[in-house]
Order: sequence, then structure tokens, then C-alpha cells
Amino acid sequence: MLGSRRNFPALTAEPDLVYLDSASGTPCPEPVIAQLTAELRGPAGNPGRGGHPWARGALRRFEDARAAVAAFLGASFPDEVAFTRGATGAMAFLADRWGPAALEDGGDILYCPGDHLSTVRPWLRLAERLRHQGVRAVAYRRDRLGRIDPDDFARALSDRTKVVVATDVHNLHGTRTDLDALAIPPGATVCLDCSQSAGRMPLRLAGSRAELAVVSGHKMFGPPGTGTVYVRRGQHRRIAVDRAAARSGPARHVSPLTDAAEEGSLDGAGAAALASAAAFIDRIGVDLVGGHLTQLAARFAEGAARVGGVTLLGPPVGESRSHSGIAAFTVDGQAGADVAFTLERRGIYVRAGDHCLEGRRDDVVRASFHLYNDETDVDRLLQGLAAAAERD
Ligand SMILES: Cc1ncc(COP(=O)(O)O)c(C=O)c1O
Repeated sequence: MLGSRRNFPALTAEPDLVYLDSASGTPCPEPVIAQLTAELRGPAGNPGRGGHPWARGALRRFEDARAAVAAFLGASFPDEVAFTRGATGAMAFLADRWGPAALEDGGDILYCPGDHLSTVRPWLRLAERLRHQGVRAVAYRRDRLGRIDPDDFARALSDRTKVVVATDVHNLHGTRTDLDALAIPPGATVCLDCSQSAGRMPLRLAGSRAELAVVSGHKMFGPPGTGTVYVRRGQHRRIAVDRAAARSGPARHVSPLTDAAEEGSLDGAGAAALASAAAFIDRIGVDLVGGHLTQLAARFAEGAARVGGVTLLGPPVGESRSHSGIAAFTVDGQAGADVAFTLERRGIYVRAGDHCLEGRRDDVVRASFHLYNDETDVDRLLQGLAAAAERD
């Protein structure tokens, strides 16, 4: 029983519920809740604000959490990781505080208009702001199945390319980006949105082409509103540090990244709980999680093919070795919200309507599996879809 739902109080409280919206947010398992509670019950020191034992202890636990999360993400050094309020905050931080120095001599930011709004918008705003100094946002496309089209990507590249913004796993299509298959020139910096891959598949940021990355904590069993930003050491010189703000916690200086991204009082409890979420996934084994998600996705794809009128959005399950467990689909002649409503009445929670992308896909429903789902959940979803399709 991989990552059994018994570990998740929110799920055991509702035994008949089939939760298939993990790509939006995952419930917290017992160890994360225990860690968060212990932090809140324990000494209330503000990390790095003050020299007394409570403040020193809080700072030590915060740095321990940083080291644990950095190791989980495969970073070389803890000081390459800072805590943020989710991936949206992390991406805005990169565009606002790393982007201007990286683009001071002008250049192109490559982005995909089909990616999550929080990934794309900060870079479009930056390009607009720096247009006068020759900065442009240049779009590359995904194909019908959500795969980056390598030819179109190559067309967008030029010797002006300075930044490539990419999404590791797409929030709707579930497709994974193979950065190595894209001919990204050595001079360009890759910024990778790992919101949907962290916790679903191994991340080895140190060895990856991405020198910048963002992660959402509440999609990998961490508490709501947590996340991290990764900036490899070689890029730290480009981060704009506000010395006055950084001085608010002199004991806290770890790196230019942490000075800039962790201004003000820190969420020590959230950081410790996110570290315990990483430990929870590591105990199960992220490779096993990936294998489990691939099996569930395959069962769903096979079953969906037998339900008339259901069309899957992403590439065939067998196309990549590891599936993200994110499966979006349409049901002929039905609005996504209606399908979601039919499923909800059967105790199955999915996502429909607004998928945080440019332009609504009112026809599309997304089911996202995680380690607490099993074959029964997939079968219940398929039965629900058969019922929805019959209503047509
Ligand atoms: C691909 C992707 N990027 C970014 C985000 C934003 O993450 P957060 O909720 O941590 O701000 C999401 C959330 O749905 C996402 O799916």
C-alpha cells in the first residue's frame, strides 16, 4: 500500500471520498501535521531575530529545514534554496530580483504562452518594463498534446536568447519537458517550474540544465502557502539584494539568494513542516511514487478508451517511461463543470473550468492522482465518467 491514505487524516475523515485534485493541493500526512504542531507548541522564537535561546533554536531549525529541502531537490548547496510562499511567489521573485541584472544588456526571454499564468506573467511584465533596453518576450509553442514542439522552439531561439522559462510537468497536459532534447544555447539561463514534478518524480537540480527553479510546497504534502526558489550559486551575483531589508536579520545571512528572498520574519513552522514532507516522500521513495502514478495513469487511459466520448488530452501513457499522474480529458458535448458536478455527487473531486492558463478550457476536466490513490479510485472515476457520458 504505497503511501496509504491512512497516513492522511483529511482522507481518513472521509473514507468514501476519491480525491483527484492533488495537482492543486495535497492534504498533509501525519508526520507533516505532527511537525507543524510541534513547531507551534514549542519555543516561539523568531528565527534570527534576537540572540536568546528561543531565537537561536528557531534559526537552527530553519537552517536544518533548508538543508533537508535542498537535498531533496538535488541542489549542491543549501544556500541555493530559499523558502517562499509557494511557486507563484518564487517565480515573481526570480523575474523581479534576478531578471533585471541578467537582462541589463537586453535580450530575449523565451516562454510558452500555454504554461501556467504564474509562470508566464512575471516574465511578460519584466519584458514590458525593460522594453526600452531591448528586452523582448518571445513565445514558443506546445503541440496539441502539450509537448514542446522542438522545431518551433528552435525557431524562437537566437543569439539574443538570455532566459528560457520552461515547465517541468505541465499542470493540464501532464507532459514532462526534456530540457536536454531542446537545443538551448550555453549562454542562456533556464528557469524551470517544478511545481508539478516535485514529489512526483526525482528532481536532480544540480545536474540539470536549469539554474533557476521554483517548487510549490502544498503540492508535495507541505503546509498551504509554502514553497521554495532555487538559484544556483553561479547566478547569485545577479540577485538584487535590498541591503536595508536584509539587515532586518543580520544573523540570518546565508547567501544573496536568502537575503533577498527571505526578507522579514520567516515561516519557521512552514519550513520545518515542508522538510518533513520531503522526508515523508523520501521514506516511500520518489521513484516508487512515479511508478505508482504511471500505473494509475495507464489504468485510467485504458479504461477511458472504453468509455465512449472521453478524449484524453496528454500524450499516450507509454510515450514517456514515467507519467506524472496528471490526466486531463474532455467528455463529448459536456461542459467540464457539468462533468465535475456529476463526479462530485459521486464523491470524486476533480478540477474543471479555470485551469490557470491563458484562455479558459471550459470543456476540460483534470484528474490528478497521487500516492494515496489506488486502482479503486481510478475505477470509481471511470464509472463516474460513464455516468457523465450517458447524460449527453
Ligand atoms: C505548473 C504550475 N506552476 C505554478 C503553480 C502555482 O503554484 P503555487 O500554488 O505554489 O503558487 C501551479 C499551481 O497550480 C502550477 O500547476
